[in-house]
Amino acid sequence: MKSDINNREDIILLVDTFYAKVQQNNKIGPIFNNIAKVDWSHHLPKMYDFWESILFGKAIYKGNPMLTHFALREKANLHQEEFNTWKALFFDTVDTLFAGENAEIIKQKAQSIADLMHFKLNAPKPKINIV
Ligand code: HEM
Repeated sequence: MKSDINNREDIILLVDTFYAKVQQNNKIGPIFNNIAKVDWSHHLPKMYDFWESILFGKAIYKGNPMLTHFALREKANLHQEEFNTWKALFFDTVDTLFAGENAEIIKQKAQSIADLMHFKLNAPKPKINIV
């Protein structure tokens, strides 16, 4: 039987497995590897901190993901298709490895953050009319 996401070791397994899948994916893999040229030894520990902060309420992640993705938007497509792919890979990874209350919570959190991020990145700029 699968167990729940209970500690940092579980988060590390989730994050490592997720980004291994991301790198194999034709749609979003190249954004990480070819466009952003991600330094994985730096990015993965940051993502352990991020998810530990989100799921267990520990304030260990220091950063501003929106700034990172706003900068990335200048170089890469970050539209519905890319976000759908990101979410499908994340949910699939959680469900393959874990089952339980925290597994459900982390999927809900990922869904909310991804949807908000997608909205902010793609919201039309308001037109200002000065009469
Ligand atoms: C299509 C969807 C997405 C793409 C292509 C994408 C891509 C990236 C890339 C290329 C980086 C920079 C890595 C580096 O250079 O170190 C990054 C950082 C990050 N991403 Fe995403 N991302 C996506 C969605 C998300 C979502 C939905 C979340 C949260 C649920 C998220 C959370 C983060 C965080 C926390 C960072 C680190 C920011 C920092 O502190 O520097 N990303 N992402």
